[in-house]
Amino acid sequence: MNKILVTGGLGFIGSHTVVELQTKGYEVVIIDDLSNSSIEVLDGITAITGKTPVFEKLDLKDKSGVEAFFAKHNDIKGVIHFAASKAVGESVKEPLLYYENNISTLVYILKELKKLPEASFIFSSSCTVYGQADELPITENAPVKQAESPYGNTKQIGEEIIKDTCKISPNLKAIALRYFNPIGAHDSAKIGELPIGVPQNLVPFITQTGIGIREELSVFGDDYPTSDGTCVRDYIHVVDLAKAHVVALNRLLTNKNKSNYETFNLGTGKGSTVLEVIKAFEKVSGVKLNYKIVGRRAGDIISAYADTTKANEELGWKTELSLEDAMRSAWKWEQVVRGK
Ligand code: WQD
Repeated sequence: MNKILVTGGLGFIGSHTVVELQTKGYEVVIIDDLSNSSIEVLDGITAITGKTPVFEKLDLKDKSGVEAFFAKHNDIKGVIHFAASKAVGESVKEPLLYYENNISTLVYILKELKKLPEASFIFSSSCTVYGQADELPITENAPVKQAESPYGNTKQIGEEIIKDTCKISPNLKAIALRYFNPIGAHDSAKIGELPIGVPQNLVPFITQTGIGIREELSVFGDDYPTSDGTCVRDYIHVVDLAKAHVVALNRLLTNKNKSNYETFNLGTGKGSTVLEVIKAFEKVSGVKLNYKIVGRRAGDIISAYADTTKANEELGWKTELSLEDAMRSAWKWEQVVRGK
């Protein structure tokens, strides 16, 4: 069966994707530098699938290390590239850390793929490339706007690098998957989101407040032009998102792609406000969430949710899990992680 490299495979979305790849019979090799993940995730994956992926600890900024890896694993048929720094706020404070870690590593991997007879490449991109879109829902043709952060810029630059490389490399085919807001955890509660330090994202902050690690959730503004004044996002269950990666990879491996560089928006197609997410949490957990409305967070866009037509029609993929399913799984995971 095809051997697939998953970079960042011990991370949140990476680990869920490894599970889905193994479930579909792929042989998986993981590279992770453990800077934002833990080796215990490997046990979680094994507990779910019964198979332990090959794991190599490697910092992808180590160019010779990347070269040595591909010399050893020269039978790799595809790469799903998650490994990157992804904290929006941190990227504003440390832009060079983000440009080095997110861009140079991508270049080193693409240089190795160019040497293979043929290679399929899936890139972890983000709806953040659209900024505040002029039209909703957001299609793949929406203009890519001036990034709100160096993190978002690395996703835009990454897509351009891949597009330019595919143009001159007939052996290389690539898909950029633009995620909306990934949330939730595997239903087994063996893997899930493990934010380090104070969570920047909404859902882990909600579950940590629910379980008592955080005193209270701050809701960043309720004076936006939305149904209840709080921002709207498209919250996609991480398992649905993981399955989309396997479908996209298979599209390339079976030559169903229409060009050798494609982009797909991955969302539910439905927007939810912050207060609606809180309500969903309270419903599935039975916990009354302690929160307060505070001022807006700099850089937040008002509303974003996906037009899923292209992914539905061309990938033959659509989300199957609801916001409540995602909140239920996130809560179950939080309780397991805290030994409750
Ligand atoms: C969602 C909503 C906040 C925390 C970012 C990146 C995106 C992806 C996901 C990496 C917003 C509100 C949040 C809190 C709150 N990252 N919020 N209180 O900003 O939409 O997307 O994370 O892949 O690329 O841009 O996600 O979860 O931070 O915020 O009120 O404590 O929740 O204002 O409206 P965001 P988020």
